Amino acid sequence: MPTSEMPTFETLLLETENGICTLTINRPDKLNALNQKVLSELEEAFVWIQKAEDVRAVIVTGSGEKAFVAGADIKELSGLDAITGRDLAINGQRIFSGIENCTKPVIALVNGYALGGGSELALACHVRIATENVVFGLPEVSLGLIPGYGGTQRLTRVVGKGKAMELVLTGRMIKSDEALGLGLANSVAGSKGEAMAQAVEMLSKMMKNGPVALAKAIEAINASENGKDAGYQSEADLFGSLCATEDFKEGTSAFLEKRKPSFSGK
Ligand code: CAA
Repeated sequence: MPTSEMPTFETLLLETENGICTLTINRPDKLNALNQKVLSELEEAFVWIQKAEDVRAVIVTGSGEKAFVAGADIKELSGLDAITGRDLAINGQRIFSGIENCTKPVIALVNGYALGGGSELALACHVRIATENVVFGLPEVSLGLIPGYGGTQRLTRVVGKGKAMELVLTGRMIKSDEALGLGLANSVAGSKGEAMAQAVEMLSKMMKNGPVALAKAIEAINASENGKDAGYQSEADLFGSLCATEDFKEGTSAFLEKRKPSFSGK
């Protein structure tokens, strides 16, 4: 399928140059938070990228300087119950697995806040290049939740179990130096422009190699995680069960009402 047939989206901007498709999540007024529209468009975009003959690699980024993605859309989350919460997690996990299994190299250019679903999206990409103002974090516990788009699984594999426990249980924010040290970021650049130059340089090196070899290398590296399905299943089940708790209602209401939550443990 030639690039000229590139679809257009409401919440994403796609631009292809020299074989590299730059996909920008474009909801800057909500810090590019992932609502259902963004997720379904991301899925559609990656189906197109997979088929588009002119696209050989991908850069995923967020619009503006302030955020890559500030997480799942908390306004949408606040209405979930145990069933719809589990369904939401399974849907997001499927879409992020589609990105992880893309047979063309995918780099996340992570600028500013990459929180919750934003860190999870970056973790689903093959490589992460961050800017100096990056802030990674999985703060879902502060909403009475857990990460639901694969974060409990992918973060653990990238940073190890002990560090994943610390980061998910505290929900604390991680700046660029620490992200680099943990291997959460492959490299750090001084600005978004420099990060883009690094991403293009890395992808250009990758694209000098055979496309079939790249596809099989991605498949083989992903296969090192075979047997991972049970972990994702548990994450979705637990995410759903948390959506039925008073702590979740309190956590999401407190965010939307711009106040600190007061959790009852129920
Ligand atoms: N969902 C919905 N809206 C969001 C959002 C989110 N995750 N993050 C930010 N926004 C909105 C804010 O509500 C605000 O909208 P209004 O102007 O209409 O009030 C706008 O974006 C700008 O945000 P702030 O005014 O809060 O900006 P700030 O500079 O004061 O703070 C921030 C920035 C620290 C990133 C703060 O916005 C924040 O804490 N956001 C939420 C982060 C978070 O908890 N993410 C995890 C979500 S849960 C999740 O992702 C679950 C999952 O795994 C599936």
